[in-house]
Amino acid sequence: MPRLLITGGSGYLGAELVRQAAAAGHDVRATYHRRPLDDPGAVRLDVRDPTAVDAVLDELRPDVVIHTAYVLDGPEARAVTTDGAVHVARAAARVGAALAHLSTDLVFPGDRDEPWTEADALRPVLAYGEAKADAERLVGAAHPAALVVRTSLLYGGPGSAAGAGSHERLILDVAEGRRDWRFFEDELRSPAGVADVAAAVLEALGRGLSGPLHLAGSDTVSRLDFARLVARAWGADPAGLQGTPALPGRPRNTALATIRGSELPGTPLPGVHAVLAVG
Ligand SMILES: NC(=O)c1ccc[n+]([C@@H]2O[C@H](COP(=O)([O-])OP(=O)(O)OC[C@H]3O[C@@H](n4cnc5c(N)ncnc54)[C@H](OP(=O)(O)O)[C@@H]3O)[C@@H](O)[C@H]2O)c1
Repeated sequence: MPRLLITGGSGYLGAELVRQAAAAGHDVRATYHRRPLDDPGAVRLDVRDPTAVDAVLDELRPDVVIHTAYVLDGPEARAVTTDGAVHVARAAARVGAALAHLSTDLVFPGDRDEPWTEADALRPVLAYGEAKADAERLVGAAHPAALVVRTSLLYGGPGSAAGAGSHERLILDVAEGRRDWRFFEDELRSPAGVADVAAAVLEALGRGLSGPLHLAGSDTVSRLDFARLVARAWGADPAGLQGTPALPGRPRNTALATIRGSELPGTPLPGVHAVLAVG
């Protein structure tokens, strides 16, 4: 069994990857940064520090690295999301480890009606998308065989081992009156079940896939419709969820499609209507 190292093991997707890889019998080690893990094998790592990244990879000598660690915004965003990804990619290449790098649908501008495929050029319009697009380019240069997985809004659904992710928690807080928020009614995404994404990442690595790969749900929905589906699935009343036009400058449609379906059975991943179907 290959040795796996998963950065961001304290995160939503990272934890699901650790769970599935361990259940499959892999020798898996997870890293965290600020939230210690209840796992004696877990390693604290700040990916902004290239020396620390090198030291962890030299010590653990993984066969495969899955890089999920990132921050969405704030003053550390580029240092973590872009520079950190490069540190991990360089170290993985140096020790001869395969690499899966996690990226986002927001590397696309969202200015057309068709979904975006692996053949489309990166043209981000938000700072987060720019940080991720730059990370993709630099990771590709540092580790040309890397698998670059782009995904969309991640969710777990009731009964999932992962539980509710950050998007679901926000939706439930609003539906249950703990928070005031309006959901974009004209911003389209292709939400993906976190367990489906994790399983597909592990399968793609097992098949030796490299290059860009879109792992997203087959249904395109607005953020408001996603919120309603999530609320209903978790037994909350969606009636009070309010829509609002997306803020100017945001990508309108970053739904993902894949042209690599023949290489990976089960893609595109199940759509949110099927995964969160009630009753
Ligand atoms: N969530 C989504 O809807 C979504 C959508 C599209 C793409 N993605 C991509 O999927 C990946 C995983 O997302 P997620 O939602 O699972 O992330 P998450 O839950 O926000 O977790 C982020 C992880 O990054 C770690 N981290 C933050 N700063 C770090 C640093 N300086 N050094 C090392 N680790 C650091 C965090 O560690 P601590 O918590 O221990 O500090 C945490 O484990 C990301 O690359 C993201 O771009 C996510």
